[in-house]
Amino acid sequence: MNNIYLIGFMGSGKSAVCSRLHELTGMEVVEMDAILADNEKMTINDIFATKGEEYFRDKETELLTQLSDESRKAVSCGGGAILRPQNVSLMKETGKIILLSAKPETIYDRLKDSDDRPLLHGNMNVPFIAEMIEKRRPRYESAADYTVTVDNKSLDDICREILSLI
Ligand code: S3P
Repeated sequence: MNNIYLIGFMGSGKSAVCSRLHELTGMEVVEMDAILADNEKMTINDIFATKGEEYFRDKETELLTQLSDESRKAVSCGGGAILRPQNVSLMKETGKIILLSAKPETIYDRLKDSDDRPLLHGNMNVPFIAEMIEKRRPRYESAADYTVTVDNKSLDDICREILSLI
């Protein structure tokens, strides 16, 4: 209960915001992707490549089910964690959901040199990112209790905004 779930597209800054929130409030941070990779003893890329996306989504749901028993955690959710309505219900029942919203150009700038996002392999460009954001937008927006835009804002500004909202 009383968890904060940070949702948003890949590269929107969920992990960085969570760790700053930890510094500011002492809230314990939960990094979903790191836990899933750790549990499977492989990278997110390898989970997608060898076991497939559905398997990864099942593990996300299992983890969120476990997390919903926890209290006062700042949870950095994987960008696709809102794709299953069941996941959104678990989050809504046990905390507040904050959407970090970023322009496709911001996402591209942040992720262009990384290759650890399997869903962007071979598609690291603004039009593809923009299309994927648009496809997911209804789910992000209906899940969110609050939305914070992050383009051109400092981490501290974003965290201050979040803390004033919750
Ligand atoms: C995904 C986002 C990633 C990771 C996986 C799938 C998605 O997490 O869970 O690559 O579907 O948006 P981040 O949002 O932390 O990059």
